[in-house]
Amino acid sequence: MSNYIKNLNWRYATKKFDKDKPISNEDLETLLEATALSASSYGLQPYKILVIDDKEIRAKLQPAAWGQSQITEASHLIILANQTTFGEELVDDYLKNVSETREIPLEGLKGYSEMMKSNLVPLSDEAKASWSARQAYIALGNLLSAAADLKIDACPMEGFDSSQFNTILDLDKQNLNTAVIVTVGYRSEDDQTQYFKKVRKSKENLIAHL
Ligand SMILES: Cc1cc2nc3c(=O)[nH]c(=O)nc-3n(C[C@H](O)[C@H](O)[C@H](O)COP(=O)(O)O)c2cc1C
Repeated sequence: MSNYIKNLNWRYATKKFDKDKPISNEDLETLLEATALSASSYGLQPYKILVIDDKEIRAKLQPAAWGQSQITEASHLIILANQTTFGEELVDDYLKNVSETREIPLEGLKGYSEMMKSNLVPLSDEAKASWSARQAYIALGNLLSAAADLKIDACPMEGFDSSQFNTILDLDKQNLNTAVIVTVGYRSEDDQTQYFKKVRKSKENLIAHL
């Protein structure tokens, strides 16, 4: 079996973290770098990655996350916050980066710019937020796989009230929304969930070759 598959079998949505075992700065940086390398539609990355280790902020957030213990006991809480709206600047900032990084003139990217703008800018705010949240979920998948590779435990979480999270973290003013959150750290020996067998649809049910 490949190591990659072994690591994916090793990982599980951790219910109880060892609250005395923090992730090293180096591993955290690697995990964030992997997340930042996630693919996104056009490469626009319409979200922010917020890393919260402050215990006081996490204690405030916990009631808005069904009181789940991972929020305060994990080493870090990572919030993937999608942009709720945007204008042409999303594309302009990206293409400026492309032009500088690849040392190519901005004028040569005009056609690409117009194509992206005409596809994205006229969308309703609802459609923009839905699209940007989907991009944030790609980062979530990548984060979970990278964590497994680094032997860092993680719990992806949708069990929270996004409007309360947005208020506590002051995200509304920045046109950001809590799309999904992940707690990361190391499993507690007492977490019985780690011993549960993985449950997945059979390949026959899940995968079709046409
Ligand atoms: C988007 C998403 C949201 C989830 N929300 C929660 C949550 O709020 N709390 C929790 O304990 N687990 C949560 N889970 C974990 C799932 O229940 C878990 O991934 C699933 O049962 C498969 O098990 P495994 O990840 O341990 O293999 C979530 C998973 C995903 C992908």
